[in-house]
Amino acid sequence: MNTKYNFDQEIDRSNTNSIKLEALESVFGSKDIIPLWIADMDFLTPPSITQAMKQRVEHGIFGYVQPDEHYFNAIINWLKNRHHWTVEQETISFIPGVVKGFAFAIDAFTNQNDKIIIQPPVYPPFKGTTEDLKREIVNNPLIFENGQYRMDFDNLREVAKTGAKMLILCNPQNPSGRIWTREELIELAEICYDNNIIVISDEIHADLELPGNKHIPFATVSEKAAQNTITLMAPSKTFNIAGIVSSFAVVDNKKIRERYFDYLEARQLNQGTIFAYLAAQYAYETGEEWLNQVMEYVQGNIDFVDSYLQEHIPQLRVVRPDASFLIWLDCRELNLPQTELENFFIHKAKLGLNSGTMFGEEGEGFMRLNVGCPRITLEKALDNLKKAVAL
Ligand SMILES: Cc1ncc(COP(=O)(O)O)c(C=O)c1O
Repeated sequence: MNTKYNFDQEIDRSNTNSIKLEALESVFGSKDIIPLWIADMDFLTPPSITQAMKQRVEHGIFGYVQPDEHYFNAIINWLKNRHHWTVEQETISFIPGVVKGFAFAIDAFTNQNDKIIIQPPVYPPFKGTTEDLKREIVNNPLIFENGQYRMDFDNLREVAKTGAKMLILCNPQNPSGRIWTREELIELAEICYDNNIIVISDEIHADLELPGNKHIPFATVSEKAAQNTITLMAPSKTFNIAGIVSSFAVVDNKKIRERYFDYLEARQLNQGTIFAYLAAQYAYETGEEWLNQVMEYVQGNIDFVDSYLQEHIPQLRVVRPDASFLIWLDCRELNLPQTELENFFIHKAKLGLNSGTMFGEEGEGFMRLNVGCPRITLEKALDNLKKAVAL
């Protein structure tokens, strides 16, 4: 691959407070494993972002800040050029994280015991945060068919009638990496709008399209979608700056926007830090070349894992993602109950993956593998896995 960036470079992340490393002991009960779990990447952030932050550090005064037009224009241009989505500045607000963003939306638009629909297997806080806020989860499980997930619209039509107030959509989908089609999104929008169910579209993985795939922002698929959605996005996963915490919401509908933005404003939750605004701006202004190259590298990692497993460990199957640096691994042929599957990965293979059931009981028999790392890390991991399976 012809690239300016060296994604093969192994970088020591120890002593940087990285959760991926520092929480190994508490989460997996062992430090002696290869960390392939929490969803950040082991690659250097684009140098143009680091450079911009270095220059700002050199200035030496870090007083209160406000976002300027460079920040908003960077987002507006990014959405237009990358996702063919035209938005106005007034429809954008900073939020201090995507999970916090949907927690605030739950708080602002629903009451305790209200029903909220999610479609598992899905990113764990969709359930955890909703339940912590004392709302009732209504599951509309995805259907796994021919090696990929699809939404169950028949069941959604039924559960939509039960008085649910909100649906949290994962677009693209985590853990499977599925990019939903326009037709699927239109159908979802129709059902939700017609049943007065507001949609929170978590699009944190939007930019991480693998070569040849195109993300479709939910709010762009129809008027019903545009008028009934809070979209949550961030440069955090895209450019490996999750620790900087810089996310934003886009809300087209005026009534929904005022209610959500007033909620944020009243609590000053719409105020970012110096580096949140700066990193986001430089990411969107200067990061696209890096992003395209990193996703080519990630595609190479996915292909490598897939062909290695087919050749050496055919009991394990890759659910091919359309987006993200995460692989949903179908381990059902090993025929192990989930706890044994987890123990197998931790203690026999010495690997730290996310257990499938974290994403809902529908994840039984699956594990989630993070391939946002140098290829050599995956070579070591797969070698461990091959030996463990052969034991
Ligand atoms: C679907 C999804 N939403 C949100 C997040 C986390 O976002 P944040 O760190 O901005 O809260 C993740 C991280 O893995 C994710 O996969």
